[in-house]
Amino acid sequence: MTTSDEAIEQAARVLRGGGLVAFPTETVYGLGADASNPAAVRRIFEVKGRPTSHPLIVHIGDAGRLDRWAEAPPPAALRLAARFWPGPLTLVLRRHRRVPAVVTGGLDTVGVRVPDHPAALALLSAFGGGVAAPSANRFGSVSPTTAAHVREGLGADVDFVLDGGPCRVGVESTIVDVTGQQPQILRPGGVTSEELAQVWGQAVPTPASPTVRAPGQHASHYAPRARVVLVDPGQIADEARRWRSRGRRVGLLLPPQTRADADVGDVVVPVPPTLPEYARQLYDLLRHFDRQGCDVVVTSLPPPDGMGLALRDRLGRAAAQRGGSARRSGQR
Ligand code: TXA
Ligand code: MG
Repeated sequence: MTTSDEAIEQAARVLRGGGLVAFPTETVYGLGADASNPAAVRRIFEVKGRPTSHPLIVHIGDAGRLDRWAEAPPPAALRLAARFWPGPLTLVLRRHRRVPAVVTGGLDTVGVRVPDHPAALALLSAFGGGVAAPSANRFGSVSPTTAAHVREGLGADVDFVLDGGPCRVGVESTIVDVTGQQPQILRPGGVTSEELAQVWGQAVPTPASPTVRAPGQHASHYAPRARVVLVDPGQIADEARRWRSRGRRVGLLLPPQTRADADVGDVVVPVPPTLPEYARQLYDLLRHFDRQGCDVVVTSLPPPDGMGLALRDRLGRAAAQRGGSARRSGQR
C-alpha cells in the first residue's frame, strides 16, 4: 500500500504543531509525537493511560542522526545499526542531554530505532526531527497492526492516522542494550537472536530479569479481553473441555499436530504455518477471539527458534493475569 504525499505532509504538520500521529512501522503502529516537544510527548502518556516511568522509543529517519539523540554511541551500536537499520531493532544508548526527560521516563538512557516502512521513513524525512512513539494502543492491551486497529482502540484521541496497510513483521522490535560491556537483549522481537548472534559473532545474552532494565516490560501486557491459557499441545483438548463444562465460550489456537481436537472449541483457528507468518498474524488473531466473544483462548507455545522467541514472550504476557478474577467477571 502506498501512502499519498498529501497524507505524509499533513501528518508532518500535525507533529510540528505538537499533535499526535499514529503511523505504520514494519512491526506495529506507533503513536507518535515530536520527541523534542515535552508537552506533545506528555499527551502520548495521557492518551495511552501509560505510567510516565515507562520510556518511549525515539524513531529517526536514518542512522546518521543517532548522535543527536545518544551520547557517544559505542562501536557495538554502530555495528548493529549498520546491519539492522532500517529494521525492527531498538538500541538502548546513553541519552543525549537534549532528549527531554519525559521521553526516557527519567532514565539516563534512550531507546532509538530507524523503522523499516516506506510511510514511516517518508514521515520522518518530511518532519525532520525524531518521533517518540510507543505502540498505538491503550496501556496493557493488544498492539495494533492495522490502521483500523488504531482507530478502534484510540478513536478521536489521536489527531491523525497515517494508513500504511497491515504491518509486515507483526510483533514489536527487538530491544538491545548497548550501554554495557556486552550487548544484551531486553525484549525479543522482529530481529531474531540467531540474526543478532551472526552479526555479533557470538550469542547476545538475555538477562534473567530484563523488567528492571526495561521499565514497562510487565507481565500482563499485550493482553486481549479473553483469558489466554497456555498448556502442552497434548492437553489442549482436555483444557478446552474443562472451560466449556463451566459454561465458557472457548477459542482454540491450534498448533499443527492438534487439528483433530477442533471439535472441542467454539471458535477454532489453526496456528499459521510458519513462525514469521504467525508473528504477522498474532495480534489480529487475539482480536479475532475477542470479536467472537470468547471467554478463554487455549493454545500452546511455539518452539523457541527464530520468531518463536518473540511469540513465546508475547503469548506469555498475554496469558499473565491482570487483576485476577475481578477482570474476568467485571469486564465482559
Ligand atoms: O516495534 C516497536 O518497538 C514499536 C514501534 C512503534 O516502534 N514500539 C514499541 O514501543 O513497542 P512500546 O513503548 O510499546 O515499548 C517500548 C519499550 C518500553 O516498554 C521499554 O521497556 C523499552 O521499550 N525502552 C524504551 N526506552 C528504554 C530505555 N531507555 N531503557 C530500557 N528500555 C527502554
Ligand atoms: Mg507497547
